[in-house]
Amino acid sequence: MGSIKSSEKPIIKVRGLHKYFGPVHIIKGVGLDLWPSEVIVIMGPSGGGKSTFLRCLNFLEEQLAGTIEVDGVEVNTEESASKVKKRIRQIRRNAAMIFQEFNLFPHMTVLGNIIEGAVTVKKMPQKQAIARAEELLASMGLLEKRDDFPSYLAAGEQQRVAIARSLFMEPKIILFDDPTSALDPTLIVELVDTLTKLANEGIAMIVVTNEAYLARNIADKVMLLDDGVWVEIAPPDELFTNPKKERTRKFLERISLKDISAGA
Ligand SMILES: Nc1ncnc2c1ncn2[C@@H]1O[C@H](COP(=O)(O)OP(=O)(O)O)[C@@H](O)[C@H]1O
Ligand SMILES: [Mg+2]
Repeated sequence: MGSIKSSEKPIIKVRGLHKYFGPVHIIKGVGLDLWPSEVIVIMGPSGGGKSTFLRCLNFLEEQLAGTIEVDGVEVNTEESASKVKKRIRQIRRNAAMIFQEFNLFPHMTVLGNIIEGAVTVKKMPQKQAIARAEELLASMGLLEKRDDFPSYLAAGEQQRVAIARSLFMEPKIILFDDPTSALDPTLIVELVDTLTKLANEGIAMIVVTNEAYLARNIADKVMLLDDGVWVEIAPPDELFTNPKKERTRKFLERISLKDISAGA
């Protein structure tokens, strides 16, 4: 949750993004600016397009229109397919942006999970990789889990290992889709700490979540997505206490009811 300097450029810049599944229009011409060190939380009803939007940002979807710029490299769907592919490769090679997934390799230790990508894909020397992984594990309070297999770890620890694996690639941006889905309420507090730490280190994030506690504690800005468009964009304090749109109010009522029934 860093401060924004006016001289900086957005690290992600989306303009006029559309996404179709066959004839069905899912994302309907949305834009977004994510600034270095900024944390954006995307909320919204199920089926509103949150996951699809995030997958578009990571170029996991086809049938797109619009432009997506990541760390100065612009992908414009108006350009030739070969140019688009080249730009996407460029973004992936810089590993500027990581799509956070929580599935660890079950047959590899914590350390193995973290260094695997760098050693096999990036050809990082093993010794160097291990030294860096240990540093990272220590900073996340996981060093003593170094040689454990994922199934021996608690859910929150597994998630921190998965985050450590992403950090190993030194991304400037991490995208999270519903990071609390596998966590019980006490672990959500832990996740807030982990994400706050990442934000303080200057990593920009887009987090899809309907967990109000998480949104309140990490977001610089909350963007409410419904039916493929932004309904309302505001800092969390403002959005939660003084929503401007009827649709936002209805949505917030529904998630607070869910919170009460879950006892959280
Ligand atoms: N692979 C797919 N093929 C067809 N429709 C899809 C596919 N993935 C998602 N959708 C549809 O796109 C809409 C948005 O879904 P999604 O992005 O998963 O929403 P959210 O993450 O906000 O719940 C939904 O109507 C969903 O059924
Ligand atoms: Mg989703």
